[in-house]
Amino acid sequence: MTVKIFDTPEVQNFLNTIAGFDQEGGSDRAKQILHRILSDLFRTIDDYDITPEEYWSAVSVLNALGQGTQFGLLSPGLGFDHFLDMRMDAADAEAKRTGGTPRTIEGPLYVAGAPEVQGTGRMDDGSDTDGETMWLNGQVRDTQGNPVAGAKVEVWHANSKGGYSFFDPTQSEYNLRRTIITDSDGRYAVRSIIPSGYGCPPDSPTQEVLNLLGRHGERPAHIHYFISAPGHQHLTTQINLAGDPYTFDDFAFATREELVIPANRIDDAGEIARRELDGPFSEVVFDIVLAKTDEAALQNRHARPRAKEREQDQASQLAGTARV
Ligand code: BEZ
Ligand code: FE
Repeated sequence: MTVKIFDTPEVQNFLNTIAGFDQEGGSDRAKQILHRILSDLFRTIDDYDITPEEYWSAVSVLNALGQGTQFGLLSPGLGFDHFLDMRMDAADAEAKRTGGTPRTIEGPLYVAGAPEVQGTGRMDDGSDTDGETMWLNGQVRDTQGNPVAGAKVEVWHANSKGGYSFFDPTQSEYNLRRTIITDSDGRYAVRSIIPSGYGCPPDSPTQEVLNLLGRHGERPAHIHYFISAPGHQHLTTQINLAGDPYTFDDFAFATREELVIPANRIDDAGEIARRELDGPFSEVVFDIVLAKTDEAALQNRHARPRAKEREQDQASQLAGTARV
């Protein structure tokens, strides 16, 4: 038995009541947005004849996602992060803020407060013996080609198992996370290890949702960046290492052609000695171009709750409060 009730006055009045349209308080914007989202979901239930069993199993998946703080993982998997990037790209194009290195998604694994180094330093703690040594370097320039000295280059990436410090308790604090201040020529150079790709935990509710879509939860080997400098637009981006099977098949939709960078293997003894290494290594060069802006809001990364910027007591959020 298929019924269609969405367009009836009862359901439309019900939606207005749920969204608080008849109430003085609250936020008009929240009311409008919730009304739209709930209307779309109610219509979906009607159109697809969603059964109570299907509805409650979806609620159970949402509970599991929340319990596992997995929404930040599912969000890029369902393309929301890339869609927000597409909107920011369109806004930049309309305002003629063009010519800079392309942005791409931040992902859920940034941690604030990484150690700061001037120009050069080392990102790995030396414990990951499976990780091939990587020499990561480049120059930050403006759209006229002038070097940007003193730019803040925040870099974070996974280890040889695809794990990130802080989220992976086996790694030391801030392993593979650094803030590098560019030198007088706008350059940065760090020693680290070649990362491996990241895969969603196979038993996670995120992977459960992806399985329903017939999709994998893998990301190619990649390195994250935040780059900022006064007078320039803040840039959130990543590079994807060329040659990974997932370079052009990222479940998080972060790959952009201009951000695919080769890791070049170097076994020349002179080069090895010059970098004070004891064997062959791979060099990754990523030069960055920042667009200029006077707008203060565009010079900072957008606000978002991030690890260590907001301490959360998750259990306390579920505790009830006395009714008044
Ligand atoms: C990452 O930063 O590696 C990441 C991004 C999106 C989803 C999962 C992981
Ligand atoms: Fe990542």
